[in-house]
Amino acid sequence: MERKAIYPGSFDPITNGHVDIIQRGKKIFDKIIVGVLDNPKKSPLFTIEERIQLIKEIFSQDPAVEVMSFSGLLVDFARRNGVNVVIRGLRAISDFEYEFQMALMNRKLAHEMETLFMMPSLKYSFLSSNMVKEVFQLGGCVKDLVPPQVEEALKNKILNSKL
Ligand code: PNS
Repeated sequence: MERKAIYPGSFDPITNGHVDIIQRGKKIFDKIIVGVLDNPKKSPLFTIEERIQLIKEIFSQDPAVEVMSFSGLLVDFARRNGVNVVIRGLRAISDFEYEFQMALMNRKLAHEMETLFMMPSLKYSFLSSNMVKEVFQLGGCVKDLVPPQVEEALKNKILNSKL
């Protein structure tokens, strides 16, 4: 039987830290379903289609990674896909409280749901999508922080919006 896990998030945009977690998840699971939250209330920089397209491009050669959007409850999305493991990245203690709450709420909503926390490489432990957007918008270099496709997309999105 195929071992599957869902890796959910906003991915606005996907960073090297996310990519690192997906690669680590693949050591344990046959398939990682990257679940991209479609939540217009969060007013993301990248549309849901753009976020999905970027992740698909990055993993275009990797059949073990599937990318899907979801809205509503994560546990409903997981159940629809026959998955009972959620992977979340833990960078630092500061992530812990929110992640702990979310994991227990998901278990309350769906008793079979297990959350697996994975630590990214130390070099990505300070990294977040928000930080990447801010650094890029202020003219900083994000080359080692995001895949090349994302750097290109940031250039197009942010530089064009300044014209
Ligand atoms: O990348 P993020 O923004 O930290 O990801 C958060 C995400 C998408 C995993 C979380 O907001 C989520 O699961 N949202 C779906 C709504 C839901 O299921 N809420 C109840 C559990 S807290």
